[in-house]
Parts: sequence; C-alpha cells; structure tokens
Amino acid sequence: MKNLIENTIEFVKEKLEGAEAGHDWFHIERVWKLSKKIAETEDCNLAVVELSALLHDIADPKFHNGDESIALTVSRDFLENQNASDDIIEKVLYIIKNISFKNRENAPENPPIELQIVQDADRVDAIGAIGIARTFNFGGYKNNLMYDPSIEPKLNMSKEEYKKSNGTTINHFYEKLLLLKDLMNTQEGKKIAEERHNYMLNFLDQFYKEWNVE
Ligand code: ADP
Ligand code: NI
Repeated sequence: MKNLIENTIEFVKEKLEGAEAGHDWFHIERVWKLSKKIAETEDCNLAVVELSALLHDIADPKFHNGDESIALTVSRDFLENQNASDDIIEKVLYIIKNISFKNRENAPENPPIELQIVQDADRVDAIGAIGIARTFNFGGYKNNLMYDPSIEPKLNMSKEEYKKSNGTTINHFYEKLLLLKDLMNTQEGKKIAEERHNYMLNFLDQFYKEWNVE
C-alpha cells in the first residue's frame, strides 16, 4: 500500500504541473494531510481516504470544459495500472464523483465515512486564510472584480443574482465559503472549520472597512 500511495503522489504531482495555484499539488497535499488528521478520529479505510484525497482534483471539470468524466477515467486507468483491488477502485471513484460542493443537490443520502472525511478536508481547505488566498487567486486567474460596491453581498444568492454580481471574488464568500461551516460531516471537521470561519468573518469586516475608508 505504501508503494501505491507514493506512486499516486508522483502521478498527481506530474498531472497538476502548471495548475492554477488554488487547485495545484499543494492544495492536494493539504487535503491529503487534513484527511489523515480527520481520519484519526474516525473508524475508516485509510487507504481509500488517502487515495481519494490524492486523486480528487486530478481533472477538475472547471479546467476541462465542464467534462466530469475525465477525472473518473484518469483515476480508474491509473489505479488499474497499479493493480489496486476492484473494491478500492470502486470506493475511490465513488468519492471522486460525489465530493463536489457544486453537485451537493445530488449527494448520496448515507455517504460512506471515507467520503465524509475527504469532503470535510476539501472544504476546510476552501475556508480560513488559505481559503481566502485561493479564492482571490482564482478570481485573479479569471480576471474577475474583487468586489462591486453596487451589489450588496448576501448569503444564499440565487444563480440570477450571482450572475448580476459579475461573479466578484467577494461574492464567492456568500455563494460558497460562508456556507461550508454548517455542511461539515465530522466532529473534527466542524472543529477545524469553526476557527477558519470566524477568521473569514473578521477578514470581511476589515475588507469593507478599508474599502469604505472608514
Ligand atoms: P468544488 O470542486 O468543491 O465544487 P470548486 O472547485 O468550485 O469547488 O472551488 C474550489 C475553490 O476554487 C473555491 O473554494 C475557491 O477558492 C475557488 N473558486 C471557485 N469558484 C470561484 C469563484 N467564482 N470565485 C473565486 N474563487 C472561486
Ligand atoms: Ni479540492
């Protein structure tokens, strides 16, 4: 198993070379470490957790014309090549398929603990100081506005309102980042999310204060 994890790390590093800095190898490494940390507090299959964490963004549809199947094909081919067991392959692919925040309306009703763990790890890396940094990096990458003062940001914006807001980076906090704390699955995930959530609230307070030159 050690070899399989090491080979996966090499594979992912190579695949993600040149990726946007919020979805690069270092994001994967943080999610992998966070997953292991959360896994310590749960009864789970650690190999499935680690492999899913390492492969979960191997071909993000955002960067592949919206195609959601590439990640699954790439992961299956890799794991089969590595002679991973069918059981592990099916479990890992199931997690990669169901981890995304965007697809949460179609989330399985009783997700396996391994999915809950990796999902929490991925969400924790989307909030706090790292979450803020990743979000502004992505906004810059897309050449989005940081903030549009003519639009009052609020939680649970409709798709329509979000469109009108030009997809500003600050609006992404209300569309996603501030919702994540209450979507955590595990106790450990909730604990880590709490501190990072409060850090974002402070950041937003300070951001508006400085924007408005108060
Ligand atoms: P998921 O894969 O869980 O559906 P995404 O890949 O869409 O989530 O988002 C991952 C991270 O990318 C976000 O947490 C954020 O940092 C950044 N991101 C995604 N969409 C935007 C956006 N419209 N503006 C700014 N950052 C974004
Ligand atoms: Ni991710």
